[in-house]
Amino acid sequence: MAKVKKIFACTSCGATSPKWMGKCPHCGEWNTYIEEVIAKETTQEAKHQAWKSDTSRGEARPVALPEIQAGNTRRLATPDGELNRVLGGGIVPGSLVLIGGQPGIGKSTLLLQLALYLPATVLYVSGEESDEQIKMRSDRIGGNPERCFILAETNTNKILKHAQQLQPNLVIIDSIQTLSSPHIESMPGSVSQVRECAGELQRFAKESNIPVFIIGHITKDGSIAGPKLLEHIVDAVLQFEGDRNYTYRILRTIKNRFGSTDELGIYEMEGNGLREVANPSELLLSQKDEDLSGSAIAATIEGLRPMLIETQALVSTSVYSAPQRSATGFDLRRLSMLLAVLEKRNGLPFATNDVFLNIAGGIRVDDPAIDLAIVSALISSLEDVAIPTNVCFAGEVGLSGEIRAVNRVEQRIQEANRLGFQEIYISKYNTKGLDPGRFDIKIRTVGKIQELYSALFE
Ligand code: TYD
Ligand code: MG
Repeated sequence: MAKVKKIFACTSCGATSPKWMGKCPHCGEWNTYIEEVIAKETTQEAKHQAWKSDTSRGEARPVALPEIQAGNTRRLATPDGELNRVLGGGIVPGSLVLIGGQPGIGKSTLLLQLALYLPATVLYVSGEESDEQIKMRSDRIGGNPERCFILAETNTNKILKHAQQLQPNLVIIDSIQTLSSPHIESMPGSVSQVRECAGELQRFAKESNIPVFIIGHITKDGSIAGPKLLEHIVDAVLQFEGDRNYTYRILRTIKNRFGSTDELGIYEMEGNGLREVANPSELLLSQKDEDLSGSAIAATIEGLRPMLIETQALVSTSVYSAPQRSATGFDLRRLSMLLAVLEKRNGLPFATNDVFLNIAGGIRVDDPAIDLAIVSALISSLEDVAIPTNVCFAGEVGLSGEIRAVNRVEQRIQEANRLGFQEIYISKYNTKGLDPGRFDIKIRTVGKIQELYSALFE
């Protein structure tokens, strides 16, 4: 006899438990457990029967690797160069791609724009907005609406039926959290619903060879809402991020079964949709005429792309006993560590000062090579001595105040050179195999923060 089984599942991480819990022991979140009805359990006997009938149908059988034809995986190149880059060269037929991001960041805009500009038939399924709302948005974006079909539906059965009939070249689902499968009783957005709907979409994509893009919301801690196993089901996970107060958006690859995860796409949100930014450095450097203290330019590499980014620091005497530290686009703990190094190794009085740090464009930078620019900006603001605008930096700072080597230094120098910088500061341990004669930028090497201080501020 089949029976209905109930479990409790954490909406944050997907952990399950037979009883309700206030705090999830796996992810530490409070009040995230909800009751769910899971699929009707089949008995051992029924499972055995199913297995026997499955093999007798004989759909897939083991095939020797050389016999498999790989020629039919031609990618569908999109008109969006940044998206192609992030996907590893276009959309793979039959793939399932998840795009995550915070509300309002521009996920729907990105994919509607793709639907409107792709020279192919696209089915855009929206469970969040009505047809009229999408129509209004598409009027702003432009493109060719003739081959873009909108479906305001949340039932997966109906969606897949329409997709079967229409046979589009791409299906877009906005968003996975609004879908519900009639095979499952729990609420849309719940763990088992998300898991089931993603599974159905995956089967549809694999069987029909039509690629499916799904939008997924992100929880406040930055993970994709619903179970982590959504990330296991899909072929690629892209994250759309940026500061909503700025216009720049970054599309990062978190997982990609068909390409590298080092890729990164950059966009600018404009009144009529997203614009590709092919040359990020020129936008991330603020245009100014005079030299101001507290500003330094970092030669960073995000993903595989070199970018010159301005870092700004403001150091001012604190009126509180506990001075304030604030950072936008940079890890606050790393800032505290850099301040501790400057205080301890160089005797600079940051402990009595408030420190504010800002990375231009509101872009989050993970590259440790930004350290040297941040340290320079901090000292520049503290001493109120400006750093010339034609100087940039690339180096990691260690706990003893040493400047460490960074990867792909040549590419960084090349980018700085191309943008007309006159001098670049790098670690003295980074010069192996480097031919300074190749560039017309002056390469200055430093081994310790003290040397940087003498070169710039004395
Ligand atoms: P949206 O795609 O709805 O975000 P998401 O689907 O990730 O929740 O985009 C939200 C913001 O983008 C919205 O606040 C308005 C802005 N926007 C523009 O600035 N220009 C445009 O052309 C469009 C369509 C949206
Ligand atoms: Mg949306």
